[in-house]
Amino acid sequence: MKTVLITGATSGIGEAAALLFLEKGWQVIATGRNEKALEKLSSKSAICHKLDVSNLNSVLELKHFLEINNFKIDVLVNNAGYGQFGTIEETPLELAVKQFETNVFGLASVTQIVIPFLKNSGGGRIINVSSIAGKVSMPGGGWYAASKHAVEAISDAMRWELSKFKIKVSIIEPGPIKTDFAANVNKSIVYNPEGPYGNLIGNLTGSTKSIKGGTVENCARIIYKAAVTKCPQNRYLVTKEAKLINVLIKITPSRLFDKIIIKFFKIK
Ligand SMILES: NC(=O)c1ccc[n+]([C@@H]2O[C@H](COP(=O)([O-])OP(=O)(O)OC[C@H]3O[C@@H](n4cnc5c(N)ncnc54)[C@H](OP(=O)(O)O)[C@@H]3O)[C@@H](O)[C@H]2O)c1
Repeated sequence: MKTVLITGATSGIGEAAALLFLEKGWQVIATGRNEKALEKLSSKSAICHKLDVSNLNSVLELKHFLEINNFKIDVLVNNAGYGQFGTIEETPLELAVKQFETNVFGLASVTQIVIPFLKNSGGGRIINVSSIAGKVSMPGGGWYAASKHAVEAISDAMRWELSKFKIKVSIIEPGPIKTDFAANVNKSIVYNPEGPYGNLIGNLTGSTKSIKGGTVENCARIIYKAAVTKCPQNRYLVTKEAKLINVLIKITPSRLFDKIIIKFFKIK
């Protein structure tokens, strides 16, 4: 039986991936902070372990847990993450640092402790959930996009470094997906309606509420495909929005792209 370890398995894309791998007969090590959600996954036969990826002690506890249980891991899905939105000027740096502690250093520290398990299995897969924001930034979402650009750079470096150990690295780049992500963005967004960017952030919170987006099931299917297909792609764009944006950034001259963005976000 193959084993997958998933971070952020307590909700959204990670939960859907955990359920799909279980359905396909895999042993699933599901991690996250939300104990109730972990209990729910445990009742569906997942092996659950509480993990805060941004806390080094918590990551070291995971390492201990994996070692004492002598797990053989075939696939790591680095999915845990959130969006800290707000303008670059107004977002306090400690919030930007927290964004990186989860989305970038959290991903890196879990990966560092899991790589020896993948090597022991004679190879394996690492699947990093980035975003279309890993390819292009956006006004009001610069810190989040910076964290996902970092995920893309780390993933590419790892793919080359780990090729000699038969560990393949893929990046998942979703556009909008219907999860708690947008609601959580709206809870943590730095928003001063009286400030110079009031309009921009107001438009942003309004638009996140009306996001239609793709489904978690479809995103989970693509993660599963990256785990099992013989030659996984380096990158998987998920949702038609992500595919469209990817084409636009490739074909649009940068000054024209600026104009489109400024118009789209109604920046005056
Ligand atoms: N939904 C979208 O539109 C979208 C688009 C592009 C990319 N993504 C990416 O997809 C991934 C999953 O997001 P989602 O849409 O499924 O959102 P979600 O429903 O809010 O799920 C986020 C998951 O990340 C976990 N998490 C957050 N901080 C954590 C931490 N410090 N330690 C451990 N786990 C943590 C949460 O678990 P706990 O709270 O239990 O810890 C939760 O399971 C993220 O990396 C996100 O950036 C989402």
